[in-house]
Formats: sequence, C-alpha cells, structure tokens
Amino acid sequence: MTITARPDASGNPPGTGAPEGGSPAGPAATADPRIRDGCLVPEVIRAEFPILATATSTGKPLVYLDSASTSQKPQAVIDALDTYYREYNANVHRGIYEIGERSTAAYEAARVKVARFINAPDAHEIVFTRNATEAINLVAYAWGRQSIGRGDVIVLTEMEHHANLVPWQLLVQERDGDLEFIPITDDGILRLDVFEVLLRLRPKLVAFTHVSNTLGTINPVAEMTRMAHEAGALVLIDGAQAVPHVPVDVGAIDADFYVFSGHKMLAPTGSGALWARRELLESMPPFLAGGEMIREVHLRRSEWNEIPWKFEAGTPDIAAEIGLGAAADYLRTLGMGRVRDHERELLEYALPALAAAHPDLALYGPMDPAIRGGVVPFNVPGVHPHDVAQVLDRSGVAVRAGHHCTMPLHERLDLPATARASFNVYTTRTDIDALIAGIAEVKRVFGV
Ligand SMILES: Cc1ncc(COP(=O)(O)O)c(C=O)c1O
Repeated sequence: MTITARPDASGNPPGTGAPEGGSPAGPAATADPRIRDGCLVPEVIRAEFPILATATSTGKPLVYLDSASTSQKPQAVIDALDTYYREYNANVHRGIYEIGERSTAAYEAARVKVARFINAPDAHEIVFTRNATEAINLVAYAWGRQSIGRGDVIVLTEMEHHANLVPWQLLVQERDGDLEFIPITDDGILRLDVFEVLLRLRPKLVAFTHVSNTLGTINPVAEMTRMAHEAGALVLIDGAQAVPHVPVDVGAIDADFYVFSGHKMLAPTGSGALWARRELLESMPPFLAGGEMIREVHLRRSEWNEIPWKFEAGTPDIAAEIGLGAAADYLRTLGMGRVRDHERELLEYALPALAAAHPDLALYGPMDPAIRGGVVPFNVPGVHPHDVAQVLDRSGVAVRAGHHCTMPLHERLDLPATARASFNVYTTRTDIDALIAGIAEVKRVFGV
C-alpha cells in the first residue's frame, strides 16, 4: 500500500492561497467566514461545535475553559465518525469487499493527513496510538528496553506531565539507568544553562514537553534538540499541548520521536500518534503483539509486519483515527499560524484583564505571551482550587483544578494545586469575561 504524505509546508488547504503564520491574509482567504482580515473569528467557529450551544443544568451557557484536558469536537469530526459507522463500518486491512476496502482507504488516508499536518516526510513514520501516553510507553518499551542499560542517563524536565515521566521511571528502574531533570525558573522557563551541564553526562535520551500543560510555557524545542544531538542523545518531544495550538513541523524541529493525542486537537478520544524517524522504527522491536503487526506466524516464531503496522497490534480504533484525519483537515483549513495568533491574542487579553479585575489573584507561568500557549493557571488566595472550580461551575464556567498530572512541577512551585483555564479555537473574550465574573462570585461566596 502506498501512503506517501505530500507535505504542504504552508499548512494551508490546497487552493486557498491563504498565507500562514498570522500574516495578513489576502482576499482569497476571506472567502471562509471563519477567517476575517487574516484572523480567526471564534464566534463563527463556535457555531461548528454543537456542545457549545448547550446550557449547563443551572441554565447557564457552557463556558468551556478546559481544552487542555480535552477539546470539544466540531461537526466535521462528528460527521466523520457518523459516516463511518453508518456507511462503511468494517475492519481494516482484511475485508476484500467494498466497505472493508473503503474503511482501509479512509484509515490510511487519515495517516497521510496526520503526516502532512506535522510535516512528516513519510506517512509510514506515523504510528497510530490511542493517545500520547501510549505513544510514550511504546518508545519507552520498544526503544528503551533495547537501548538503555546500567548507568545510562535519560534527561527530562521538571515540568513534565506524568505521561512523560512515569514510563521513564519504570524503564530506568528495570534497566538500572538514571534520570536527570532540567530545572525551571520560578516563572516556569527551562534553565538551558543547566541543560548544557546535564548534557555532559552524555545522556542516551532527552525527553521534554513542547508546551507545558500546566504553565503554558512554549519550550525552544528546535534549539534543545540541536543541543541534545550535539551531545549524542536522541530526542523525544511530547507534543500533546503543541499540535493542537501551534504550527508543528517535525522535519524542522529535527527530533527523533514526537507524540501527541487526538482528543486535545478536536479529534475523538482513542486517537493519537507517534512520529519517529523510519530507521528508528525499523530498528525497534514490537511493543504489543498479536494480529495486524505480523507478516507470518508459525507455532514457535513470527515475523513482523512493515512499519507502521508492526506497532499497531489488534483492531485499531478505526473510527477515531479517521476522525483524527478529519480534525487535521479542519485545523489545516483554519491555518495553524492563525490558531496560534488567536490563542496568543486571548492570552494578551486575559492576563492583564484577570490581574486588573483581581489584583490578589496568583497567576503562574511566563508572563510573556510570545513564549506561552493558551493556558492560565491561577489561585484565589484563601480558597482551595477545587472550591474555586466548583463555584465557577455554578456559573457554567468549566475549569480544571488539581495538579493537572504534574505533581513534581507543583512541588517545585510549592503549590498543592492550581485552578487552570485553557483555550482553543472556539474560545472568545466573552469566555474570559465570564471567568473574571465567576472569580468575583467565588470571592463573594468565600468572603475573601
Ligand atoms: C503535556 C501532556 N502530555 C501528555 C498528556 C497525556 O495525554 P493523554 O492522556 O491523552 O495520553 C497530556 C494530557 O493532559 C499532556 O497535557
């Protein structure tokens, strides 16, 4: 089967001629009502997300500010799932009949779309996984167990999500290796000067998040990858909070492994991907074993399928991956440069507005929107974040409260927990205004 991606460096849909990266769009781009003067129009985009038209049980409109946990889904993605189940539900790579062939073609077409979306040179380098966590575990198991031995070092950072920490803990415990951590500054920026020193330990792997799910920090991934490579290390990047929000070009970053989840990028749960350089995937043993990942099976031995199928054991989540392809198409038509500009503009509005309305509010993370995604962690002094979230919920405002699967980061910042608001393409200034009003209500209820 031929599944070659034809990367489109601009990230724009064919034929729009729309420039990327937030520069003013020409007249051709304005044909799409979701884009005006080169910028996203979130009020128009919202209408494509059915859930955003619903109300909560208190009768308040839903103000969804928890997109870093999972994003809402546009009609185009819901339709892709619906069409699959109504019209061509069949297993992939098996059925020699019409709907089986249609299902296989759609599943493999989704792989090409995903490859193109992150500018991967070859769609065979995209392994579908259930989520970013599974993709990291795949690398820790398949690459890690053949590459890490006694005393070998893996460098991580203090801001990692548990998904990019615990698999490496298990690996070094089993293989007698060591973990080292790049520290952060108090405002959540990686200390590259210390990274440089850690690289003298000649680590085998450096693994770090592209964008912090808790602080929003956008890490200088290309620079860090270059530094790691110069020291002889391979690089894994956790792109779970980057692929939905900033233009990602794995070729330009030049990492070795890049992982992300579909459900945070408008796609269904159960979809996600690992991108890795072909020679690495070819040199790695399988992760899970069973059907689909084999070429030949004998009673006492088996031969593996080619990549990427070698890593896709069992029946995959076909509908979800087809939905991931639809989500990649959806975001491409918006243009990832515009998505990034929209979220940056929201952040430029939100940070000063929150501080002005609530001077006592504790805000965390870098205050420079140029190096920060649409994630706003905060605390209302004297009120536990769970209580903050509960009172906000009464106003229809959904935020997350807790440690956001970054307990070591919270320890580093000496915080038991935080509340977190996070944005996506459908987030508006009105949502932020609702958050600000909701925080006033929290203070009223708790008398602080
Ligand atoms: C930075 C980061 N990495 C990894 C993950 C894990 O994603 P999933 O639960 O979809 O595997 C998350 C989820 O919040 C995340 O924010």
